[in-house]
Amino acid sequence: MARRRQIYEGKAKILYEGPEPGTIIQYFKDDATAFNAQKKGTINGKGVINNRISEYVFTRLSHIGIPTHFIRRLNMREQLVRQVEIIPLEVVVRNVAAGSLSKRLGIEEGEVLPHTLIEYCYKDDSLGDPKVSEEEIACFNWCSHEEMQDMSSMAVRINDFLSGMFSGIDIRLIDFKLEFGRIWDGDFARVILADEISPDGCRLWDINTNEKLDKDRFRRDMGGESEAYQEVARRLGLLQNEDNGPGEVLDMSAHRGRLRSTPKPGKK
Ligand code: TMP
Repeated sequence: MARRRQIYEGKAKILYEGPEPGTIIQYFKDDATAFNAQKKGTINGKGVINNRISEYVFTRLSHIGIPTHFIRRLNMREQLVRQVEIIPLEVVVRNVAAGSLSKRLGIEEGEVLPHTLIEYCYKDDSLGDPKVSEEEIACFNWCSHEEMQDMSSMAVRINDFLSGMFSGIDIRLIDFKLEFGRIWDGDFARVILADEISPDGCRLWDINTNEKLDKDRFRRDMGGESEAYQEVARRLGLLQNEDNGPGEVLDMSAHRGRLRSTPKPGKK
């Protein structure tokens, strides 16, 4: 089959024209970047794992009524999604202080926040995805007031659901980033969840050891990033499937002990 037309290449994904109008194919790369692409590298097998994790998370979210762009996974690195007009905002949800919040406000990483915070960043790499206020979003018309309300109420529901889902597999959801897009029905636009949800855009700590199971391992040169991503997939029950065929996902069993040095739940 002829290769489909490439629409866009991002830092971690390539978008191709889909088989029907209004559809897109998302291809998940192993490329990793941090600090607005100042740091570049590869995480072996990441694309395969993120494709599976994101498929699983988006499917679970659709079961609780969150509208998403996900249609179906096509193969190990590709999924079919609805074409959306991406809203140029990153919606960051935080439960525990970490990363830029800790740096900006001097709050120690790991401090549980008195309540969940939602932040918005303007998607522009050349500006370093700056944090923006609701006033600025309205002023520059990046989205409407109703769209902001839809995004923030979905973000809260997603956070509640994912916090529970991850705590069931001994993982703390520290923070994460969401992206939303518009789909048009005549003159009427509806906001749906887009992009991906994977350890690239979440902070996930082992509930017992606080071991990082996410892209901070890459950002902070800690090593073991492939193993960490695989560990998340394994705990979600996604690695038993045979289609993690040879060659694509590496066998990380040799490293797993280190990342799984987790006391049994209840034995703190
Ligand atoms: P931060 O602490 O660096 O602001 O990141 C908060 C969360 O958002 C963290 O889970 C990583 C995620 N994130 C992205 O996925 N992409 C980004 O460009 C940024 C800045 C954060």
